[in-house]
Amino acid sequence: MPGAIYAEGLVKTFGDVRALDGVDLDVPEGTVLGLLGPNGAGKTTAVRVLTTLLRPDSGRAVVAGVDVLKHPNEVRRAIGLSGQFAAVDEYLTGRENLQMVGQLYQMKARAAKARAGELLERFNLSDAADRTAKTYSGGMRRRLDLAAALVVSPPVMFMDEPTTGLDPRNRQQLWGIIQELVAGGTTLLLTTQYLEEADHLAHDICVVDHGKVIARGTSDQLKARTGGERVEVVVHERDRIPDAREVLAGFGKGETTVEEHTRKLTVPVAGGAKLLAEVIRELDGRDIEIDDIGLRRPTLDDVFISLTGHAAERAAEENGEGPPGPGAMARKPARKEAAK
Ligand SMILES: Nc1ncnc2c1ncn2[C@@H]1O[C@H](COP(=O)(O)OP(=O)(O)O)[C@@H](O)[C@H]1O
Ligand SMILES: [Mg+2]
Repeated sequence: MPGAIYAEGLVKTFGDVRALDGVDLDVPEGTVLGLLGPNGAGKTTAVRVLTTLLRPDSGRAVVAGVDVLKHPNEVRRAIGLSGQFAAVDEYLTGRENLQMVGQLYQMKARAAKARAGELLERFNLSDAADRTAKTYSGGMRRRLDLAAALVVSPPVMFMDEPTTGLDPRNRQQLWGIIQELVAGGTTLLLTTQYLEEADHLAHDICVVDHGKVIARGTSDQLKARTGGERVEVVVHERDRIPDAREVLAGFGKGETTVEEHTRKLTVPVAGGAKLLAEVIRELDGRDIEIDDIGLRRPTLDDVFISLTGHAAERAAEENGEGPPGPGAMARKPARKEAAK
């Protein structure tokens, strides 16, 4: 039986750009799929197709058991989309915005009010609740958008880069909220450029690049393919590099890379903090003095390097992401994180 979100052979071209180049997805009910990819990979296009905002050139999609192309209105009733249907009204206060969404969804006034208060609190907007949204900063609007998408908890939700532009504290908070939602049975498709986020939240991850799924699996499977976390060691003396390398080889799940001039060795590992302690003990036991040691999570770039042999190409900024669409969906992420 197809899952709560199902797609088969989705193709969408814009001129010569194949934004979606044959995408298949299947998200079991009550699970989270992380669509992970760099800028321009096709994530937003996939979300727009699945949420009825864009017709694919070919392919099929079924969301909440309903054919997306045949019955778009029915699909819309069953889904929530971060920032989309909830288009923030600048002239209303944060609280009014959320209450209005509740009322649009036929909640009783009192329930809508209570829900609004709860969400404002959770998204750290209580202090600004009674100011018009016009006075909000970008991050605050983003949070209000997300809160609006959560007023009624729809069975299937889409969040397009929900934490892009959020500070770490708000990101953590949002993760908590997402986890609660999913614990309550919501099916979620989430797009992200952060491997850590997909790893943290998603049951399954699809890595997309140039409109194609280039890898899929659970976070553990993906980690196994990409070598998981990295231990990075900086040895104090250059002539101990070979010894340190030998130590790391004993713990590594892949090749150790050495940067001679910084005396830094990096190796993918599986085992986390406990393993780090063992590495330290072993280095110490051999009297290898270290200046620094740490465990680093793999990044999207690490994933791309191990899958494709090259780092993720960021779509050329001047390519843009197409004309701005409604709400947050087409909003360009406010990041200056070009190719690292
Ligand atoms: N409306 C549009 N018109 C023209 N090109 C578009 C449009 N929407 C997206 N694209 C192009 O399709 C590709 C995928 O874009 P998008 O789905 O927004 O990627 P992502 O969300 O992963 O950053 C990009 O090359 C983008 O420039
Ligand atoms: Mg996008």
